[in-house]
Amino acid sequence: MTVVNEASIDLPDFSDPATFADQVPHEAFDQVRSMSGLYWQPTEYGTLREGFWLATRFADIVAVEAKSQEVTCKQGFNFPLNILSESPEQAEFNSHMLMRKDPPDHGRMRRVAAAAFGPRVVARFDGWIRDIVNEALDSALAKPEFDWVVEVGKYIPSRVVARVLGVADDRIEDVVDWTDAVFAVSSEADAGAKQSEAAQALYMYCAELQQAKLRAPDDDVATALAQAVERGDLNDTEFLTFIGLLLVAGYETTHTLINHSMRLIVENDEIRKYAGDALEEGTVDRLVDEFLRYITPAMNMARIATTDFEIAGTTIRKDDMIQLMFVAANRDPAVFSRPHEFDPHRPETATLTFGSGPHRCLGSALAKLELRILFEQLAERGVKLELNGEPKRGWSAWINQLHSLPVRVV
Ligand code: HEM
Repeated sequence: MTVVNEASIDLPDFSDPATFADQVPHEAFDQVRSMSGLYWQPTEYGTLREGFWLATRFADIVAVEAKSQEVTCKQGFNFPLNILSESPEQAEFNSHMLMRKDPPDHGRMRRVAAAAFGPRVVARFDGWIRDIVNEALDSALAKPEFDWVVEVGKYIPSRVVARVLGVADDRIEDVVDWTDAVFAVSSEADAGAKQSEAAQALYMYCAELQQAKLRAPDDDVATALAQAVERGDLNDTEFLTFIGLLLVAGYETTHTLINHSMRLIVENDEIRKYAGDALEEGTVDRLVDEFLRYITPAMNMARIATTDFEIAGTTIRKDDMIQLMFVAANRDPAVFSRPHEFDPHRPETATLTFGSGPHRCLGSALAKLELRILFEQLAERGVKLELNGEPKRGWSAWINQLHSLPVRVV
């Protein structure tokens, strides 16, 4: 396919993790956003059409995600498309995953767990989440220097998601290792096959969990979903992939947010001051929203067109992939004034950090609560950290990963 882009000459390859290795390429996104239509990114692998359309404007992404009949997640929901390297058995298994379903079957499956993640249910978790946050901070701050990613970023969301789902304490580190293994291969050309292999141990554990919860039911999501299978509301593979997705999605993105927000605090005095004052000013929720916008942990998700349609004057053909670049849309000047400035007092609060449309993040209320409690506890304790070495980013064109943040207590 020959597509001519305006000014494409200076732009990096948005499919290549190298483009995201040092930082998110916001200047390049600004350039793409200012072009008419969507931008065509050629690729050698990972799509059905040797490239994808890049959507960087807020309104365009919302419009694509609202087209629930005209786009699908069945072949995968990120670049490289998983279906292209999965074996037939892997593809069949993964087709039962919530993120791989389209309406109306998607809605049937999502409803089984939706209530467990609603804002009012999640608000009741405040006490025990605060205990987990304090455990992490007590242990980390007892050391004069430590890696924030390991001691805090990994600790809090892995414990929280384990408790909500009903994972035993002695398996939490396994879940973290399995999740890291899945994301470590997520940008490779044959990511579909490799992620399926990496997730095998996770799914074996999910099967154990299903039996354990039927034998000894508890007040957790794994029990609710295991009972849904007994009632015939879910099949066994839907159970496994649902629990697997919740464990992986609930941990990875939240830990990325915790990691980057502390990096911003230790590297930027103004942001440090905002974070320090937020508790007293009653603006912790606004601070969390601004970190979510500014960082955008899941930088993008993808959709495949099931039919021809038009977005922003660009004709999308059946089987074209559209890369929904949330991280760019969250800095769209049509929606956010001074988009590259960190400002927790900004009036605009709706972001695309959790996506939109039928697949909008199921765990947004939980993630926001974890973050609010973390920033409340940091401010209450007057924690002051400084950078103690080079932060290390991950290798991904999908997740805005930060793998290491050495800090020192001051
Ligand atoms: C800062 C933390 C988080 C971020 C940035 C995030 C981001 C996202 C994004 C962008 C999507 C896809 C939305 C779309 O395609 O429009 C998503 C989906 C999802 N997220 Fe999250 N997420 C976070 C935390 C969580 C947590 C804590 C959980 C649960 C424990 C969770 C569970 C899910 C699930 C199950 C889906 C699939 C929903 C569906 O297909 O209907 N996420 N998330």
